[in-house]
Amino acid sequence: MEGPLVLIGCMGSGKTSVGKRISEMTGLRFIDLDNEIERMAGKDITHIFKDMGESVFRKLESQALIESLEKKDAVISCGGGVVLDKANLDKLQDIGNVILLTADPSTLAKRLEDDSSRPLLNNCEKENKIIEILKQRSELYLLAADMVIDTTGLTKDEIASIILERE
Ligand code: S3P
Repeated sequence: MEGPLVLIGCMGSGKTSVGKRISEMTGLRFIDLDNEIERMAGKDITHIFKDMGESVFRKLESQALIESLEKKDAVISCGGGVVLDKANLDKLQDIGNVILLTADPSTLAKRLEDDSSRPLLNNCEKENKIIEILKQRSELYLLAADMVIDTTGLTKDEIASIILERE
């Protein structure tokens, strides 16, 4: 594999758990972009959004993406909004190892039911908000992706195996 393996998709699509599993199975280093951003900012995602605003978060996200894509032997789990920035999208298209994880909005909402760590999904009805987010992003995800996996009904082990056994 030339560059890193990159996982993209909406919140709740399983990028982090599948990325960790792939890392365990292959020895590739696991990089979670959200964790990198938190490290850069010195605070968690909720507080970055609250104290600095989404636009600062997006700038940190772009910077974290650039730094992470330089790592060859890595599996990178991106935040769901990484494709919103045109320059990020261009970089992902150049990488060639980008896997899109999908699931329908009700499945995604169910997985995030008890989660309060995603500022974009707080104080709103999660499934409706996810539908709105997907309307804005689905096309961008597809533009970036080299492979698409519908994760509905699959375990993280099954998803990891599908990714590792791809052509
Ligand atoms: C976001 C997704 C989150 C995180 C932030 C914004 C988004 O990452 O980056 O809350 O815009 O979809 P996950 O997709 O890993 O939950």
